[in-house]
Amino acid sequence: MPDIAFVKPALPRAGAMVLPLAEEAPLAGLAKQADEATGGAISRGLEAAKFKGRKGQTTTLWAPGAGLTKVIAIGLGKPADIAATGAEAAGGAIAGPLAQEREAVVAADGLEPAFAASLAMGVLLKSYRFDRYRTTEKEEDKPKLERVAVAVSDAAKAKAAFAPMQAVADGVFVTRDLVSEPANVLTPAECAERCKALTKLGVEVEILGPKEMRKHGFGALLGVAQGSANEPRMVVMKWNGAPKGKKVGKPLAFIGKGVTFDTGGISIKPAGGMEDMKWDMAGAGTVVGLMAALAGRKAKADVVGIIGLVENMPSGTAQRPGDVVTTASGQTVEVINTDAEGRLVLADVIHYCIEQHDPRFMVDLATLTGAIIIALGHEHAGLFSNDDTLAQRIEAAGKAVGEAAWRMPLGDAYDKQIKSDIADMKNVGGRPGGSITAAQFIQRFVQGKTWAHLDIAGTAWSTKDLPTAPKGATAYGVRMLDRLVAEHYEG
Ligand code: BES
Ligand code: MN
Ligand code: ZN
Repeated sequence: MPDIAFVKPALPRAGAMVLPLAEEAPLAGLAKQADEATGGAISRGLEAAKFKGRKGQTTTLWAPGAGLTKVIAIGLGKPADIAATGAEAAGGAIAGPLAQEREAVVAADGLEPAFAASLAMGVLLKSYRFDRYRTTEKEEDKPKLERVAVAVSDAAKAKAAFAPMQAVADGVFVTRDLVSEPANVLTPAECAERCKALTKLGVEVEILGPKEMRKHGFGALLGVAQGSANEPRMVVMKWNGAPKGKKVGKPLAFIGKGVTFDTGGISIKPAGGMEDMKWDMAGAGTVVGLMAALAGRKAKADVVGIIGLVENMPSGTAQRPGDVVTTASGQTVEVINTDAEGRLVLADVIHYCIEQHDPRFMVDLATLTGAIIIALGHEHAGLFSNDDTLAQRIEAAGKAVGEAAWRMPLGDAYDKQIKSDIADMKNVGGRPGGSITAAQFIQRFVQGKTWAHLDIAGTAWSTKDLPTAPKGATAYGVRMLDRLVAEHYEG
């Protein structure tokens, strides 16, 4: 990840320069100085390239003079329309053109300090790369960006605005690293092991294995795990950041589905695209990254993150369709389809969370259903909640950071779809409203507590570049839930 520095506006002696420019605005400040130093080559170049400063428009000018090797102009749109998400997207748009530079100066002296910070955040987020397994890449193709100097008039203010963003970007990278890992490397035990790194940030990390799970009666989670040679784990991560006098006692709880690989089990999935199921632990990965973000910026809140890690495999020991399992809550489940495994994992983890931590609210994240992709595509996650205030807060937080969620309904009529003839419920409710019946299933384990469920099957991974994420693991949810905590639960 490149270092971000905020500096007083001054022309670089050499190298690359970025000019974030509003629509139809004349060059001013540092951009104007650069233009004058190059004898007007920059303004002539922009004119020739028909650069107007429209939102997202980028133009690169090579060697315009004054020692500059490269000038990248990025359009911000109409001055009145410049917002945090737009500034971030502008940062994202220049990450590619900057990749081969070692250093760059961004002439952000025309921007509010907070927007300058957002622009830097965008550069960071878009610069992510998962390159652990590339061994033959040529030196000249590797990204080289080491330092971005953001020139702003109030450098101290921009720096202060950026400090928590850096922690959140670190958290996003933690999530993307976990979610990108192949399932032969990231087994439940390995994922749990990697969570221990959060202790460096002051997070308490506790790992539970099958023995402890049996003790707590995790029949549903263990039923999913029993087909795999890789043992399940549950990780409990605690961040106690609420100021001493202000402890409310009840922590905020975030819970993640961590299926490190989902073959479907005996109800096996088709071969085409099954490799995608390595990221069926994205809910868990998001919770880990969120905890890293909160601890990294020393959030003034008590938060617990709990993830259930299993591998869903078909084998001689795997659970069968028709099996009945007893969950930690005592409720029984007829497992009609072994591919509806995420809800089984969440049922036990949610119950444990309530029993052990009595949370103020719970938000679970899960790549739970293919049906949510049919309903909402890749543009919104599905948001389900038994609490309007929490739902609205999550939706608003998501909107503010460019992680959109759409509220979906819950109701008794849907709940009826998961009635079983021989147990308290079955784990599938048929094709109609598949994401909703999955949420109804989870709701049966929340004991009426304030709860929200985010079905991130459509948003956790992207097959194309996004404004602030390269294709691959998005870490959807880290920024949204960090914002949720910051806005409402740190006062
Ligand atoms: N992990 C899948 C859901 C999924 C699908 C995530 C596509 C990401 C992309 C989940 O465990 C699953 O298999 N769900 C089934 C449920 C069905 C059997 C009721 C599904 O969506 O088909
Ligand atoms: Mn499945
Ligand atoms: Zn799954």
